Amino acid sequence: MSNSLSPADIAKRAAAARALEMVEDGMTLGLGTGSTAAWFVRLLSERMKSEGLEVVGVATSSTTSWLAEELGVPLKSLEASDRIDLVVDGADEFDGDLNLIKGGGAALLQEKIVASAAERMVVVADPGKRVEHLGAFPLPVEVVRFGWPVTKTAVERVLADMDVDGREVTVRMSNGEPLVTDEGHHIFDLHLGRIRDPARLSVALNSLPGVVEHGLFIGMADTVVVGFENGAAEVVQRRLVPDAIELMRDEDA
Ligand code: A5P
Repeated sequence: MSNSLSPADIAKRAAAARALEMVEDGMTLGLGTGSTAAWFVRLLSERMKSEGLEVVGVATSSTTSWLAEELGVPLKSLEASDRIDLVVDGADEFDGDLNLIKGGGAALLQEKIVASAAERMVVVADPGKRVEHLGAFPLPVEVVRFGWPVTKTAVERVLADMDVDGREVTVRMSNGEPLVTDEGHHIFDLHLGRIRDPARLSVALNSLPGVVEHGLFIGMADTVVVGFENGAAEVVQRRLVPDAIELMRDEDA
């Protein structure tokens, strides 16, 4: 099958296949959005059929929901889920601390809610997503429709005080109209070039009335699986800071 795939799809599939090895019988799985996460859903469906693996998915978008239903992966809503063992999702960028930019597919709000509810977040990506500093990919910000130009001005004011290389804010369009997300909001894309302090920007954006969420995922992913065009995959784990290692030692003692 791999022979008929493009090199990019071989890489995405390789990442998804390695992430699938982390799935165990009986798990509730967050199912991410995007082309790499879609590979995970396809391979998951195949493994359920071939091995009798039993899992339930919680979808992070209507698109993923449709794909899972089409492939026979059972779903439940987040409202009906008391725990999510693992979420497997894509990313638009990841840095050396496994901080992410997500939301290129406009699903960042549900993705972040599911990731924050999950015990573990594993990201599936190709090597092009690895960056030294976040920000070359425009940062998506989800805003309510009510008074959105006012919110745009407020975002621009926040950016004026941030250490970034660019400050342009654009409204994401779809068919000539501002795009409407699954939750009925609009998306701004922040063209920042380089974000020197993602944590500070995250807090500042979340403090604005009208902003629902943004695509910075800080300290949420514990693992990134990078797939390559030769079909290999690399597992990158978040480095633990010395305090966290000490805490784990104390807990183990
Ligand atoms: C969806 O909103 C995004 O967060 C995606 O997970 C991200 O854009 C990665 O998508 P690809 O796997 O298609 O690159």
